[in-house]
Amino acid sequence: MYTLGINAAFHDSSACIIKDGRLLAAAEEERFTHIKHGKRPVPFSTYELPFHAVNYCLQVADIHLNDVDNIAYSFNPYILLGKHAGNPEISLPLQPQLSTKSKEWNSEWDPLFLSFIVNAPGQLADGYPHHLQKRFAGAKTEINKWRFVDHHIAHAVSAFLPSPYKRAAVMVLDGRGEKATTSYYIGEGNDLKLLSQVNMPHSLGLLYEAVTTHLGFLHSSDEYKVMALASYGKPVYLDAFRKMVEVYDDGQYKIEGTDFEKIFGKRRLRNDPFTQKQFDIAHSLQKVLEETVLKLANWLYEKTQCENLCLAGGVALNCVMNAVIRDNTAFKNIWVQPAAGDSGTALGAALWVDAQQRKNSYERYKMEHCYWGPDYTDEETEQFLKWTKVPYRKLENIAEETAGILAEDKVIGWYQGRMEFGPRALGSRSILASPVNASMQQRLNEIKDREDFRPVAPVVLEEDAGDWFEDAGYSPFMLFVYNVKEDKADKIPAVRHVDNTARIQTINRNQHPLYYDLIKAFKKKTGVPVLINTSFNTRGEPIVCTPRDAIECFWTSPFDALVINSFLLEKERS
Ligand SMILES: [Fe+2]
Repeated sequence: MYTLGINAAFHDSSACIIKDGRLLAAAEEERFTHIKHGKRPVPFSTYELPFHAVNYCLQVADIHLNDVDNIAYSFNPYILLGKHAGNPEISLPLQPQLSTKSKEWNSEWDPLFLSFIVNAPGQLADGYPHHLQKRFAGAKTEINKWRFVDHHIAHAVSAFLPSPYKRAAVMVLDGRGEKATTSYYIGEGNDLKLLSQVNMPHSLGLLYEAVTTHLGFLHSSDEYKVMALASYGKPVYLDAFRKMVEVYDDGQYKIEGTDFEKIFGKRRLRNDPFTQKQFDIAHSLQKVLEETVLKLANWLYEKTQCENLCLAGGVALNCVMNAVIRDNTAFKNIWVQPAAGDSGTALGAALWVDAQQRKNSYERYKMEHCYWGPDYTDEETEQFLKWTKVPYRKLENIAEETAGILAEDKVIGWYQGRMEFGPRALGSRSILASPVNASMQQRLNEIKDREDFRPVAPVVLEEDAGDWFEDAGYSPFMLFVYNVKEDKADKIPAVRHVDNTARIQTINRNQHPLYYDLIKAFKKKTGVPVLINTSFNTRGEPIVCTPRDAIECFWTSPFDALVINSFLLEKERS
């Protein structure tokens, strides 16, 4: 039984395919179209479906769209349709904001937004781009195959079902779903039970997004930059943010709508230089997020008395907040879905439908890595390299020779195996460098054309993690920060953030053998089991997907070498 998962309502559009409980493929649309996050999260773009990601999933399964048994879409329009559900004649005002009828809806944009979602089955069958006809031509709009899954159930399932736990408390921290913005579940076996939820307009995610905009960044995209900025600030505006967020004893909270310009002054424009004030705003926001979520997590622990916690929703990508939960609650184990943002809801929706339909024969899939995207064989890669006439040579021992290049302080593009699902590059589409020289952070930010304040993150051999980072063990998805150990701090200065933390990825050989072997070989040469790992892209671009993307990025950016499958491309030294 094939179940196709689709996320498309807001942004980070994505698809995945599951065959009888086993994940076969998952990918974000942005990697194929080069439009970051797939699209902007506005009602005008809701009709856009992740055709390329769906096509890729069908290709891996080697089936046509008509062969799919279920299509799980990670948003349930009927929650918002209310009394309009089942009525084929809702009207779409020409200018929603001017419509008097808009009062019937939660938002004046809902008729437009929801009609796009209700019509998604027809759009999937008919709206595919011409070059994808092999998997789509003749597709039927079969409504009975289509399952709308509540957005927060999709997030919660993505956090719980692939986790290692039989029983777990689950917290979804999101911008928004249909109505819910934060929700709490208890997961047991193959089932989830809703405990409570916070509804719109009160949303920690939307508050963080609004401050992201105020600081001159792109909301629903650059929130991680605000988190990085926070380390440089002081808690000057703590009281201001505390006044905006009121937390109760039952997992509920309220957020006061606020005019930031009244409190903080004029918003920063995109290219304005940063001032201390902006660092302080980011810092204060981050602190209030942490203390609020801590209260919510403590309430959830009391309610469930369960030692395992699963997290999802875009806010769960905040690795500093995750570390605060790890260090200050009674939860003993935490698992965060690596695609915690909306892309992961495609996976959650599909797993949920699959689990519901195959109740008796269902066996949970455990997500131990996120390498579920496209890959290319050596043969395909070499054929392309020959065709492009770029100079290359084949490596005899990829790990050994690449480690030697890295030990010479060169920056390399590392392209190996199946692309990652989720926002982090984790060793399949990464830019790698040595962490030994402090100047490497600056150099990488220049190479990637990124802001100076942006930290770079380390990957460390799993067995060595505890020796280099305080209390670090298994952390394969770069979703928690750890303090760098005092006696190791001088050995890896490039990956230490200003507050002495690092957002680490641990790697073992089962997850990605070649990546593991490379770091092991680097350790043999330098004594350091750590590399800098940053995503293989340049500013504003999605992570590379194909060999063509990798080669274009390499030749138009000042990094030194590209190791693409078994092949090495190097730039001449001047
Ligand atoms: Fe979401």
